[in-house]
Amino acid sequence: MPALALTAAEVTVLHERATQAANNSYSPYSHFRVGAAILLEADSVQDGAIVAGTNVENASYRLTSCAEQAAIAAAVTLYGPAIRIRAVAVVNLNGAACMPCGACRQTILEFSDPGTIVYYPSGDGETVSTTMAKLLPAGFRLATN
Ligand code: THU
Repeated sequence: MPALALTAAEVTVLHERATQAANNSYSPYSHFRVGAAILLEADSVQDGAIVAGTNVENASYRLTSCAEQAAIAAAVTLYGPAIRIRAVAVVNLNGAACMPCGACRQTILEFSDPGTIVYYPSGDGETVSTTMAKLLPAGFRLATN
């Protein structure tokens, strides 16, 4: 399915919500403050809601939860297992380039279509966009039957 582009206003709101979340980042180890906001599809399940999350680190390091994963866990908690993601915005307060890590791409894929849009900072102050089809072309899907 082709990506349905967001309006400039929708992108702005998504970024605002991601930035708000990044302000709450718990990142005492990396000091890399990340926020993610996911725009859910406008259907009867979730009505185009936006849900945000931030990264939550841990002294063990390996138990760190990324912002994208936190946002998706919150969205499922709020709207249930049938959520579908139209777009994701990732921001950080460090002015750095930041694309979703491999684990987050797989997590986003679970609730995405190939045309789901991902906005991320390129590092030169610009926000760029791509699609899940490009970010994870051969992601794992469980064949159940
Ligand atoms: N992080 C995210 O939350 N999302 C990303 O897309 C990249 C990395 C977090 C994990 C860790 O807390 C910190 O950024 C440094 O890797």
